[in-house]
Amino acid sequence: MTTTTTTLGLTGIDRYETLTSQCNPGTGLESFLDLDTREECAKKCDMNPRCMAFGGNGKKCYLKSACSGEAGPCDRQWCTYRLKGPFVDTQTSITLKEAAKTTRTDFLIGVGDLDPWKNNDASAQAALAHFNFATAGNVCKYTAIQKSENSYDFTSCDGIKNVAVNSMAGKFRLHALAWGEQNKQWLLDLTPERKRQNLIDSIREVVLHYGADAWAIDVVNEAIVDDTQNDVPQEPFRTASSEQHLKSYSNLGGVQSARSPHPWYPDVRDYIDIAFTEARRHCASCKLFYNDYNVEGAGGPNWIKIKSDRLYEATKGMLSRGLPIDGVGLQFHIELERVKRPSISGIKANIERFANLGLEVHITEIDIKVSPPWSDAKELEQAKLYAEILHACLGVPKCTAFTVWGLRDADSWLLSRANVVKPLLFDDEYKPKLAVPYMVHVLQGKGIIWTPVDDVLV
Ligand code: GLA
Repeated sequence: MTTTTTTLGLTGIDRYETLTSQCNPGTGLESFLDLDTREECAKKCDMNPRCMAFGGNGKKCYLKSACSGEAGPCDRQWCTYRLKGPFVDTQTSITLKEAAKTTRTDFLIGVGDLDPWKNNDASAQAALAHFNFATAGNVCKYTAIQKSENSYDFTSCDGIKNVAVNSMAGKFRLHALAWGEQNKQWLLDLTPERKRQNLIDSIREVVLHYGADAWAIDVVNEAIVDDTQNDVPQEPFRTASSEQHLKSYSNLGGVQSARSPHPWYPDVRDYIDIAFTEARRHCASCKLFYNDYNVEGAGGPNWIKIKSDRLYEATKGMLSRGLPIDGVGLQFHIELERVKRPSISGIKANIERFANLGLEVHITEIDIKVSPPWSDAKELEQAKLYAEILHACLGVPKCTAFTVWGLRDADSWLLSRANVVKPLLFDDEYKPKLAVPYMVHVLQGKGIIWTPVDDVLV
C-alpha cells in the first residue's frame, strides 16, 4: 500500500503529513544523518535536490528520496515528510469563484451549455458552486424563444437566468440574439423584408424581457467566414466594411461539416449593424458582445490565425461604424494537441490586440478536446492548458470572464460530434478534475510553476 500523496509533481504544497501504517516500511530511504536539530535536518533536505522527504527530530535525521509508483516515501510509521514545493495544491477545496476574488474581484467564472431541467442533485449543485456566471445552451436562442413568428416563450430561458441571478447570485449571459444556426424553418422561409422586421422585433422583445439581468449579451454569434483561401487578411490589418468577411452559410461551432443556408446573410446584409443598434436601444447597461469560434489565436495553426485576423478587421469595422459593441467573445472549442491549437503566446497576443481596441474580452465556451484513450498524463496536460489559457486572460485587465462550455464531461455537446473524451472541468460524477485546482492556483496569482504546455513536446 502507498499513501495518497505519492505522485510527485501532482500533489502537495509544502505539506507535512504523518504517514500511517499504509506505507511500505523501508522504502524510499536515502540516508541517515546525525544532526542536532530538526531545522538542520530540514535544511539538508532543502539543499539536496533529490530529497523529497525528511523525518526525525534531531540527532537522527532521515532523508528520503522521491517515491514513485507504489513505493511510499516513508520508512517508519512515525515518519513525517515534506514534498519539495512549490506544487499545485490538488487537495484544495476553494472554489474557482472564491479563488478569483483573491486577485481579480471583477473576474467572472462562467459555465455554459446549461439546460433548466439538468444539474439539480447535490453533486451537481456542488460543482455549480464554483461559478458566478451562467449561459444557456440552446434555450435562449432565436427560435427557441420565438417558437413561431411573433410568438415568444421565455420559460426555459428564464430558468437559466434564474440559475445565474438567483441560485448563483451571479451574472447572466444572454446567448444569442442573431445567429445563423439552430433556427426553425419558419424563419428561413420569411422574405428578406420580413426577416429584417422580425430581427428588429425579436431583439426588442428579448432584450426588454431581460433588461439589466442580461448582464452580457452575445448579440451576434459566428458571423465570420471560415475559408482559408480567399480574402485572407494581411498586415497592416484593414478596417473591414460592413459586409467583409461575412459567411453566408451555417456551420455549428466549427465542428459540423454540413453547411446550411444562412438566415441573415445575404438576406439582411446589415444584420450585424441592426442587431447591435437595436440591442443598445433597449438596454443601455447590457454589455454587447460579438462571439465566434476559431478566433482564439494570433499565432499557431494558420487557419485559426486567419479567422482571428478577420475578426480583428471586422471589429475594427464595427467600431469605425460607431456600433455599440463592448466586447468580443472567443469561444475556445479547442484541441489538446499542440499542433491543432493556438499557442499560448498567440492566445495572449490575440486577447491583447482586442483589448487594445478598447474592447472587453470574454472566453465564452471553452472545452478541450482530448482524443481517446484517456490517461493521467492527458488529464495533467488538459489541466495545465485550461490553467495557462486562464492565466493568459487574467494577465490582461480587459479580459474579464472565463466560461467553460458545460458542467460535467458526460453532458458535453462534443461527445456526440467528435471522437473525444472528457473535455470539461468536472467528471461524470461532477467531481473536479485536475484542471480545477490548477485553475484555482493561477486564479490565486501563484503563476505557472510547471513546465508550460507549449514547452513540452507531446
Ligand atoms: C456554438 C454556439 C453555442 C453552441 C455550441 C455547441 O459554439 O455558439 O451556442 O451551440 O456551438 O454546443
